[in-house]
Amino acid sequence: MSDLVTTVPAPGGDPDVPVIVALRDVRAAYGAIEVLHGITVEVPTGSVVALLGPNGAGKTTTISVASGLMPVSGGALEIAGRDVTGVGATELARAGVCTVPEGRGVFPNLTVSENLLMASYTGVPRAEIRDVAFARFPRLAERRNQLAGTMSGGEQQMLAMARALGTDPVVLMLDELSMGLAPKIVSQLYEQVAAIAAEGVSVLVVEQFARSVLGVADHAVVMAHGTVQWSGPAGDLDDDLLTTTYLGGP
Ligand SMILES: Nc1ncnc2c1ncn2[C@@H]1O[C@H](COP(=O)(O)OP(=O)(O)O)[C@@H](O)[C@H]1O
Ligand SMILES: [Mg+2]
Repeated sequence: MSDLVTTVPAPGGDPDVPVIVALRDVRAAYGAIEVLHGITVEVPTGSVVALLGPNGAGKTTTISVASGLMPVSGGALEIAGRDVTGVGATELARAGVCTVPEGRGVFPNLTVSENLLMASYTGVPRAEIRDVAFARFPRLAERRNQLAGTMSGGEQQMLAMARALGTDPVVLMLDELSMGLAPKIVSQLYEQVAAIAAEGVSVLVVEQFARSVLGVADHAVVMAHGTVQWSGPAGDLDDDLLTTTYLGGP
């Protein structure tokens, strides 16, 4: 077990670690083109943080940096108070940093059960991942032998979340959870997000549009053009700011 794994607290939070993920003045680039221009984002332990902003704002890149998939070109990444700048995705995943990518990343030609058994290199026994998933999402148990690609978008998102949670994450990052889903399904999924957070897993949710996520978010961060425009308690986020951000105003 690596040093990092042993220093990251178990889910449920550690009062000595008030912030589970912090990006500090982070810059990141694709080749020569910088797309994150020094952003600071914090996920307090046990909270739900909504990362909002229009298409191209840099939200997905932020998740890529926070999960170690993309190197920073400036600034620092901290997990549980520890500087992990430059640590790769595999090691951060083992330490409990877990992402559900945009588009969900389920295998369409595998069954629900098979998808759950394909999860993880984090050391959680695979059968246990499946059992935990079925307990949390009974609908997945009912559909265990169905090909994932033939399920509805909401059920596929459920499967993606279940697979992620099976790895016993400390922090879960969800990219565009609501994309392409009906509002009713989205609110059900957000109820699950709230339940997950109540169990002590910190959650960073990326959404292009704010309304669906703000009901469950404790904090919000609004990005545009690779910079943070606003951050604070989700309840303090006002419509004028969002409108300005989304419409590209001053
Ligand atoms: N693989 C890539 N190669 C080059 N540029 C990219 C790549 N992915 C994203 N970008 C650019 O980085 C910026 C931020 O993109 P992204 O993080 O995907 O934004 P968001 O998720 O908020 O829509 C955009 O200008 C986008 O065009
Ligand atoms: Mg994106």
